[in-house]
Amino acid sequence: MAEDFNVKLDTAMYYTPSEECTKDSWAGDYNQRYQEFVADPAAYWEKIARELEWYEEWDQVREWNYPHAKWFTNGKLNITHNCLDRHVFNQRRNKVAIMWRGETADEERIFTYKQLYQAVCRFANGLKSLGVEKGDRVCIYMPVVPEQIIAMLACARIGAIHTVVFGGFGVAALNQRIRGVGAKVVIAADVTFRRGKAIPLKTIVEEAVVNAPSVERIVVLRRDETKPVELHPEMEVDFNDLMENQPRECAAETMDAEDPLFILFTSGTTGEPKGIVHTCGGYMVGTYYTTKYVFDVRDNDVYWCTADPGWITGHSYGVYGPLLNGATCLIAEATPDFPDNGVWWNLIEEYGVTIFYTAPTAIRMFMRVGAEWPQKYNLSSLRVLGSVGEPLNPEAFEWYYQHIGNRECPIVDTWWQTETGMHMITTMIGEPMRPGFAGKPIPGIIADVVDKDGNPVPPGTGGLLVIREPWPSMMRTIWGNDERYQKYWNTIPGCYTAADLAVKDENGYIMVIGRSDDLIVVAGHNIGTAEVESALVSHEAVAEAAVIGKPDAMKGNVIKAFVILIEGYQASEKLINELTYHVRMTLGPIAIPSEIEVVDALPKTRSGKIMRRVLKAREMGMDPGDISTLED
Ligand code: WT7
Repeated sequence: MAEDFNVKLDTAMYYTPSEECTKDSWAGDYNQRYQEFVADPAAYWEKIARELEWYEEWDQVREWNYPHAKWFTNGKLNITHNCLDRHVFNQRRNKVAIMWRGETADEERIFTYKQLYQAVCRFANGLKSLGVEKGDRVCIYMPVVPEQIIAMLACARIGAIHTVVFGGFGVAALNQRIRGVGAKVVIAADVTFRRGKAIPLKTIVEEAVVNAPSVERIVVLRRDETKPVELHPEMEVDFNDLMENQPRECAAETMDAEDPLFILFTSGTTGEPKGIVHTCGGYMVGTYYTTKYVFDVRDNDVYWCTADPGWITGHSYGVYGPLLNGATCLIAEATPDFPDNGVWWNLIEEYGVTIFYTAPTAIRMFMRVGAEWPQKYNLSSLRVLGSVGEPLNPEAFEWYYQHIGNRECPIVDTWWQTETGMHMITTMIGEPMRPGFAGKPIPGIIADVVDKDGNPVPPGTGGLLVIREPWPSMMRTIWGNDERYQKYWNTIPGCYTAADLAVKDENGYIMVIGRSDDLIVVAGHNIGTAEVESALVSHEAVAEAAVIGKPDAMKGNVIKAFVILIEGYQASEKLINELTYHVRMTLGPIAIPSEIEVVDALPKTRSGKIMRRVLKAREMGMDPGDISTLED
C-alpha cells in the first residue's frame, strides 16, 4: 500500500518538564489512570459525566450498534447550564469568563460569568422572538468577538443547532453550508478587522443567501457604530436591537444527550464538505474532560486558545471546554504579526496567560521572525503550552519549549480531528515528552497504528492511525449523509480510520506524519482538493484542474494547482491572477493556491481518476511509485 514506509527512530530523546509546572496535575499518573479506564470503560466515563449537572440521569453509559454509538442514553441536560448556570449559581458568579481583545489596546471587553449568562439569555430570547425553535439550524458567520460566542451559546440554550462558518470563507462556501443545513437564521457581522483594515462580511452574506430559500432572517452585528451599514428591514435585524429589552433569564431547553448540538463542516476528499454532527451529552463530557485533564485547568488560570471558533479547535477548546470548566478565557481578534511580531507575547504578558494553545504554523512563523520578539516580554506566567492542527516538528517543539516555555512548561501536542470532537492523543502532563511525537492515547481512548487489515505494525513501521472503540464526543453522523459517516468505520475492520499516517516508537508514542488521502492541511486548516478543483473549473477558462499539497516550511503545506485551459485561452500572468481571484471569491482566502501551473494534460487512471500522487512526486522530484493504472 502507498503507506508502506519506515521511519528511522533515532535514539529516543525525551524531555521532562519542570516539576513546578506538573506536580499535582489533574492528569495524575498516566498508567494508573489508563488502567482504571481499561478495567471498566463505562464506569470511567460515568464518573466524569457525574462531575457535571444533568436534569435527568442516563439509563446506559454507552450503546454501541456498530458503527453507530449513543452515549448517556436518555440523559437530559443543557450544555449552557453547565457552561453558565453551574458557575453563576455557585462561586464563580463574578469571575471573569471572557476577556476579548481587538487589534488595538483600547479595544477590550470583559464579561464575568454572570454578564455572559445574561447576554446569552437575552440573545436566546431574541432568537426565540424570531421564531427559532429547538432543532432549527442557525448559521453563524462572524469574526472573533464576544457576540460570536454569545450567539453559539444562545443557540445551544434554546436547542437550535449552530453551524459556525469561519469568517475567511467566501460566498460559494458560505452558501453551500447555509443550504447544506437549511439554516433558518444567519447571524453575521458587518465587518471583520485584519491588520487594521475592515473587511466586509455582510456583502458576502447578502450574496450567499441568494438561492438559500430556508433563510428567514439575517441578524447583523454592526461593529462600526459611527457609520452603521444599512439594514434591509424585510430580512435583516440588528444584533443589539434584538437583545435589547429582552429578559435576562431564559430557561435552558431540556435536551436529550443524543440531540444534535452543532454541525461543523470539514473538507472531504471528494464531493461537498461534510457536515459533522456533534451531540449534546457526549460532546459535553468529552470536551469538559480533556480541557480539565490535558490542559490541567485550575480556577486561577488564564487560558488562551488562539483558534477561531469557526474551527473545531475554537468550538471545543475556545468555547465549550474552558467554559464547562469555569475558566477565565482570553479571546483575541489578533493576527500574530500585527501591529508587530510581538503582539501575542504582549497579550500573554498583559493578561497573565497561564495556558496557551496554538498551532505549529504560528510557531514556525515566530521562529522565522526570531526569538528577540518573545524575549521582549515577560512570559513567566505560562504554565502549560499546547499545539494542534498538524505535526509539531522537533525544531518547532524545541523552539516553543525553549523560547516560550523557558524549558519549564510541558507541551501538549494534541492530535484530534473535527470528527473526534476532543483530544485523542497527546502526552499527558507529567509524562516525558518526545519531540515530533504527539504521544499516547489519552485515558479513555484506544488508538493504534495498523496495516490495511487492522493488524498493529511494529515500532518504526508506518501505518494508519485508528481508534478502536467509540468515545463520547465522536461525531454521530454526517448531516444528511449517513453513508459517508459509515465509511469512517468500514475502511479498516472494527476501527475508526482517521486517514492519517503514523508511526509508533518502542514506548508506544505516536508520531503523526500526515494525511493518507487527498486532504491538504494548510496552516492547520483542512482543505479538500475537490473543493479547490471545483472552484477552478467553475471559471470559464478552465477545462480541468488538479490540486496537490506541497510541503512548505512555514505552513506545513501549500496548495499547488495544475490547470488545463479551454481552447482559445492563453496562459498569462493576468489569467493566473484572475484564477487566484476567482478562488478567493468563491472559497475565500484560505483556499488560494500559491502556485497555478498551466498544463496540457493531467495524469489519470484508465478509469479517469486524476492521479494526484503522480503530480506530487513529479513536483517534488520523487519516484511516483506504482503507475500501472496510469493511462498512457
Ligand atoms: C487533521 C484534522 C483538530 C483540530 C484541528 C484540525 C491533522 C491535527 C494534529 C497533531 C499532527 C494533526 C491530522 C488530522 N492534525 N492535530 N497534533 N499532529 N497532525 O482539525 O481540520 O479536522 O483536521 O489535522 O491530519 O487528521 P481538522
